[in-house]
Amino acid sequence: MESSLDWHGAKALLEWYVELGAVDAVGDVPIDRYGLAEATPAAQKRRAPEPAATSPGPGPVPVAAYHHVAEATALAGAAQDLEALAEAMRGFEGLELKKGARNFVFADGTPGARVMILGEAPGAEEDRMGLPFVGRAGQLLDRMLAAIGLARNHPDATRAVYISNILPWRPPGNRTPTPQEMAMMVPFVRRHIALADPEVLILMGNTPCGALLGRAGILRMRGNWTQAEGRPVMPMTHPAYLLRNPAAKREAWADLLEIQAKLKETP
Ligand code: URA
Repeated sequence: MESSLDWHGAKALLEWYVELGAVDAVGDVPIDRYGLAEATPAAQKRRAPEPAATSPGPGPVPVAAYHHVAEATALAGAAQDLEALAEAMRGFEGLELKKGARNFVFADGTPGARVMILGEAPGAEEDRMGLPFVGRAGQLLDRMLAAIGLARNHPDATRAVYISNILPWRPPGNRTPTPQEMAMMVPFVRRHIALADPEVLILMGNTPCGALLGRAGILRMRGNWTQAEGRPVMPMTHPAYLLRNPAAKREAWADLLEIQAKLKETP
């Protein structure tokens, strides 16, 4: 579509959208930009001829996902420390999300802390900063932790917390990660937990519960200790949910007290 805007007008309009809080440029109709690159005349010339008869069906995507899950499992297993794991994940090419993200978001806080928190995936602010939980939900998370005497980088190591996500790249428009995306990242997440070796794991919302416990239904699961990855796990409602539903903070407070009590069981 032709636009009547010149360069300066377009820039001013874009700045105005950012001022209003727009974080994504999304059209009414989806465009497969990776596909577009393939469709250029040069790319078409390079492409091998199609087989005469192509069979209908789900196509190569699920097969590619299996391949990538196997690759993720091998890479994760080979990582002997958190630094090596971060490098292995950063180099992993299985997720298309990587191409659209500004930053790789690995973790924040204190590795080796007694408590590890897992969220879903970076949002716009996390993508910009390269750190997990630094937007509004993250600020609420920090206040929740402070209420029971914990902090990402607490000077008293016994009160420190380590934070990460199931996905290290932001899904466009903050959409929920697909089962395939989660399947590819779970081997890395499991290794991440093993290397960070927390006493207690907190899963924020349905996505980490689905990824590690194989079930969702956070409103039923929250507040009940369960076991995964060889340690106690507390599912909690996500801080973003608490921002939208302030009445649920009461239950979240009860869950925080549960965690505090669990940490007091072992000095
Ligand atoms: N929500 C998450 O689940 N993780 C983040 O890092 C930020 C928001």
